[in-house]
Amino acid sequence: MLARLSRPLAVRQLASCTCARVATPAAARAAPARPLSLAAPAPSPHRSALSPRPPVAQIFRRTYAARPKPTEPIVVEGVSYPRDAFSNATPAILDKVPRRLHLDPAHPIGILRKLVEDHFSSFEHLNSLSPIVTVQQNFDDLGFPADHPGRALTDSYYLNRQHMLRTHTSAHEVECFRAGMDRFLIAADVYRRDEIDRSHYPVFHQMEGAYVVDPAAGGIERLERENAEMQKELRAANIEIEDPTREETPTNPYQAAHDPRSARIISEHLKNSLNGMVLKLFGPQASQAGEPLRVRWIEATFPWTGPSYEVEVWFNGQWLEILGCGVMQQHTLERSGVGHKQGWAFGLGLERIAMVLFSIPDIRLFWSRDARFASQFRAGEISTFKPYSRFPECYKDVAFWIPSADEAREAGREKWHENDFMEIVRGEAGDLVENVQLIDEFVHPKTGRTSRCYRLNYRSMDRSLSNEEVNVMQDKVVERIVSDLGVEVR
Ligand code: PHE
Repeated sequence: MLARLSRPLAVRQLASCTCARVATPAAARAAPARPLSLAAPAPSPHRSALSPRPPVAQIFRRTYAARPKPTEPIVVEGVSYPRDAFSNATPAILDKVPRRLHLDPAHPIGILRKLVEDHFSSFEHLNSLSPIVTVQQNFDDLGFPADHPGRALTDSYYLNRQHMLRTHTSAHEVECFRAGMDRFLIAADVYRRDEIDRSHYPVFHQMEGAYVVDPAAGGIERLERENAEMQKELRAANIEIEDPTREETPTNPYQAAHDPRSARIISEHLKNSLNGMVLKLFGPQASQAGEPLRVRWIEATFPWTGPSYEVEVWFNGQWLEILGCGVMQQHTLERSGVGHKQGWAFGLGLERIAMVLFSIPDIRLFWSRDARFASQFRAGEISTFKPYSRFPECYKDVAFWIPSADEAREAGREKWHENDFMEIVRGEAGDLVENVQLIDEFVHPKTGRTSRCYRLNYRSMDRSLSNEEVNVMQDKVVERIVSDLGVEVR
């Protein structure tokens, strides 16, 4: 649910790379990924023949104890947040806050934002809401259970126990309803801790839309009238809508608080509005290819909507999941002080859509400050990105023993989680790391300890990297995983 939705899909690998690989140990290149096995550990690929380095494991183990946590407050946009055991927002991630890519009218994210705004032109448009929200706003107000995985420190960025970087734009729904807004559209940056590859980045963008009416003031009749208009337009368009969710089902029921007729009208209004939006975004490309646009509706679950849906669009031979939505739960509207209203909400991921519409092969490109990227786009236009060059990649492997839960506890550390490793890699290599892949894992037959080998693929979007600078980054990563995560490098 929260974890996957609105993240860019894995885009297909680019045509095979012709560039020379630098500093890749021949053994590591040839070695296929081994499945979980009880076999004896392989020699460490971390010590490469082409970049000889001392056996760092022992040195680091002796040199670094668990680092003391900094105590000064975290300052974001002039506001100070006292640290506590929850604070895990890194300087690298906080550096992204001022970028506001969605406000740049000639950036693909800004261009897409504007297109969606044009479709919802009668809505109030909110584009400057602070990314720092309370845990209450992001989770509690929306009815997320206390043990929802999205709340974990390994999945979200916290400034402290109370404040976090929003993980989705839904965090603002309650405050907007409370302020009396009936139709609003929010565009914003959202933050989630995640793996590293060409379609995942810890900051991405979403748009949230919501529409509520007061049934006592003729709101449902208004939705019915608008439904008739929208349906007329959709019938005239070249769109094929697969919707097995049309009827209420036991797994996706209408709310007890709703009269079924109103629930159906609201749900239809939601679907008509979003089918129209999808047509606006993807229709031109489909008709260029001489095909009808195919859209399909799928049952979903969100704690603050019911019934709930996801929408997928057929694009370039595959289904692309682009949004989550549903009929607003009455309990959420009641919490917002507008329990007398009814309506719907949706949340749309912008990177995933921009990557396919503009043919952008790597999510890091959105953050590039290179003029060769920026100069390719014009406000109001969807154009095809022409890669200006692909620079050589350089990969380095690192293998280490993961501390067991007991070892971590004894050392006063959090239990091992892959996202903490990813965060360190991002912290040291920033946008110069393209992909981090687990290539080997095994459990030692006697000790029961787990060893993992990760391949870190370095590549700049804008220039060639030297082997030396990659070694510096890799060494820092190794140093920090030893000192911060307590792993033992092999
Ligand atoms: N916020 C949800 C997500 O990020 C999407 C959503 C928005 C779903 C509004 C329902 C209503 O996955």
